[in-house]
Amino acid sequence: MSEQKSEHKPRVLSGVQPTGNLHLGNYLGAIRNFVALQESHECLYCVVDLHAITVFQDPAELAANTREVAAAFIAAGVDPKNHIVFNQAQVPHHAELAWVLNCVARMGWLNRMTQFKEKAGKDREKASVGLYVYPNLMAADILLYQATHVPVGEDQKQHLELARDIAQKFNNDFNAEGFFPQPEPLIQGPATRVMSLRDGTKKMSKSDPSDLSRITMLDSADEIAKKIRKAKTDPDVLPAHEGALEGRPEAANLLGIYAALAEQSVSAAVGQFAGQQFSALKEALAELAIAKIAPIGDEMRRLNADPGAVDAILADGAERARALAEPVMADVRKLVGFLGG
Ligand code: TYM
Repeated sequence: MSEQKSEHKPRVLSGVQPTGNLHLGNYLGAIRNFVALQESHECLYCVVDLHAITVFQDPAELAANTREVAAAFIAAGVDPKNHIVFNQAQVPHHAELAWVLNCVARMGWLNRMTQFKEKAGKDREKASVGLYVYPNLMAADILLYQATHVPVGEDQKQHLELARDIAQKFNNDFNAEGFFPQPEPLIQGPATRVMSLRDGTKKMSKSDPSDLSRITMLDSADEIAKKIRKAKTDPDVLPAHEGALEGRPEAANLLGIYAALAEQSVSAAVGQFAGQQFSALKEALAELAIAKIAPIGDEMRRLNADPGAVDAILADGAERARALAEPVMADVRKLVGFLGG
């Protein structure tokens, strides 16, 4: 085997779907943490186009959105030279390993996935088969590189637990203790679950029909200010301690976003605005969000204007990713008993 048992060096992998409308939740819950991890880890950041097509995507839009996610990574501060930025479809090993893992994971495990239930909605019969086995592909993304750490938002926790179960079962089934490490989820910071600006009980999402529900990474300063001004509030003044955020989802969300952008704790943000009106928080939040997000959007637009350059970065990243993936996949083929070199 090319990797020795249980001696996996710290390696980070994470992915973002190219389904448009990249938002503040994606940034604070995931992408911003990608940047910080580069100091201490070897990182692979993947635009997961194979995941995106579990729900139909217009082909031209998929290509544009794939470049846009790559641009977001880079604009936010991911370094594609010292780390790896690529799109999944250029590394066929993801799909190959996903097939093997489809045969390892159990129906009962997948039946518990809440994200499938939410996404498939009432008419499950009409969901694609890909949407159902989506978490196995996600496990493949991680295990293919024997990644040890996975920065994600709170909503991916259950998928990460499944990836750990799949890794364990593969190792047991094929008598290969320690072959796949148990990937650790890194769910970090005060904004691991950013909520809709229109309803503090709903997650901020790319697919919410209301544009006012999310701040996107491409919003102008005016749009950011407008969305924060219109964000839902409640009638009380802001609380004096963190415990009093219980039952006040909009206050909790806005203070959480503020804390994350200001790089401070939620309790520090609560202290700063204690007893004040929402309007004071909104004013400070708009200023801070514009200062942090608008320059990233500007850089994304600059990168989007040169699609050839982004494509070259993705091609280079994919080549380096394939070089890491191939020996692991070769071991998997051997372990499973497939003939061939
Ligand atoms: P995706 O594309 O839905 O979201 C990308 C990242 O953003 C996080 N996120 C949020 N964080 C905080 N608040 C929110 N409202 C919010 N919405 C989204 C997500 O948790 C995620 O980290 N299945 C994954 C993509 C994936 C992946 C992987 C991730 C595919 N393979 C391997 C890690 C490792 C997804 O759909 O993310």
